[in-house]
Amino acid sequence: MPAVIVVGTQWGDEGKGKATDHLGAAVDLVVKFNGGNNAGHTVVIDGEKYALHLLPAGILSEGVTPIIGNGVVIDLEVLFQEIEALEERGMDTSRLRISSNAHIIPSYNRLMDRTTEKFLGKRQIGTTGRGIGPSYADKMNRIGIRVQDLFDPSILRQKVEGALANKNHLLVKVFNKRAVDPEEVTNELLSYAERVRPMVVDASLLVNDALDEGKTVLFEAGQATMLDIDHGTYPFVTSSNATAGGACTGAGVGPTRIDAVVGVTKAYTTRVGEGPFPTELFGEEGDELRERGGEFGVTTGRPRRTGWFDAVVGRYASRVNGLTDLVVTKLDVLTGYEQIPICVAYDVDGVRVDEMPMNQSDFHHAKPIYEYMPGWTEDITKVRKFEDLPVNAQRYIERIEEISKVRVSVIGVGAGREAAIVRHQLTGA
Ligand code: GDP
Ligand code: IMO
Ligand code: MG
Repeated sequence: MPAVIVVGTQWGDEGKGKATDHLGAAVDLVVKFNGGNNAGHTVVIDGEKYALHLLPAGILSEGVTPIIGNGVVIDLEVLFQEIEALEERGMDTSRLRISSNAHIIPSYNRLMDRTTEKFLGKRQIGTTGRGIGPSYADKMNRIGIRVQDLFDPSILRQKVEGALANKNHLLVKVFNKRAVDPEEVTNELLSYAERVRPMVVDASLLVNDALDEGKTVLFEAGQATMLDIDHGTYPFVTSSNATAGGACTGAGVGPTRIDAVVGVTKAYTTRVGEGPFPTELFGEEGDELRERGGEFGVTTGRPRRTGWFDAVVGRYASRVNGLTDLVVTKLDVLTGYEQIPICVAYDVDGVRVDEMPMNQSDFHHAKPIYEYMPGWTEDITKVRKFEDLPVNAQRYIERIEEISKVRVSVIGVGAGREAAIVRHQLTGA
């Protein structure tokens, strides 16, 4: 199967980085198609931890061409920081390619992100403060700055001036801040131009040519289904399409080319930032799961909110992404619980609801209806075959499979690259 999309099925941090890396050896190209450095994808290789934000996880695999697609928003300062940090650790980043149509996060959009969040007060989203929302908003408003603009200083200057015309009014008159100097921003962006130039390509052409040649391409999502701008818990979402459709628009490939869509899910649930989360655990229970799972954000260091597996979310993710496979991560974290709840439906104001409510207020009111699965105590971190898992762990996975209506193809039993049980090859190999 040459074209495989990897998406998150929950609220992010499901282990997409590890899933992408797991496939690394079997693929030729890894394309990141949405988001920016709001993402934090962790890969652990031989005990060494790599935290990637803007770079596709494929950059860690030998022989893979990592590509930043047109759907991504790029903070150039972060891009080069990440490249330098990897080079210092002996990784080769010379294969990285960037779409000429990808948008840039100019420094003023970081300022806009943080300032608008403050003004939202109680209604704040809890963004990562990286300028993601304002940069996608500029893209939609047709006042964004693209990678290709870096190579035409006079056009770049005009575009920066155009973008700042409105924003400076807002900054000065509404937010009581100083105006941003377009010349300063232009010069800062231009200072990266010659370093970026050799990486810039027509990424859509590159990816389609690779598929024509029978190469394997993996499309790596940032964020996740429930953070998707269209299908997530709006307005508590990110500003891009993190679902499978985003891979087509964000990389420039047609839907007919896609062979498999792999959903990555934790064996429980986490969420960072604000917004509804029906199976959330509070107090000691929430703290315990957070400690066991090491649930602290890779990007902002914020403690993640924790809760049980939500099969309503799982079924929904399966539907809106057209999932063909599931990768269930962090099963090892559940070892030692006497029983493990799975949310199979919601109680919305006294009515049982089996599918994702259509109305946001209903989702805010949703209370989980749990089914309880028996737990296990054996250490599973060294297990590599499904049959060698404790019977209750097998049952837990089979139940997830049954109620999510998608086969579970890979099970994560530890953070390391090797800590996985493979039931079905994700690339169909
Ligand atoms: P991503 O954003 O979806 O790539 O996920 P993150 O990297 O933000 O968060 C996932 C965390 O879980 C990272 O710290 C991974 O190293 C870790 N991880 C991934 N899979 C497993 C697993 O199967 N078991 C354990 N214990 N940790 C895992
Ligand atoms: P990965 O790829 C978890 C959340 C933020 C906030 C909301 C909007 O590592 O799974 P933004 O800065 O995007 O405007 O913030 O989305 N968020 C994530 N949560 N994992 C991520 O990425 C996230 N990227 C954004 O916490 O609630
Ligand atoms: Mg993450």
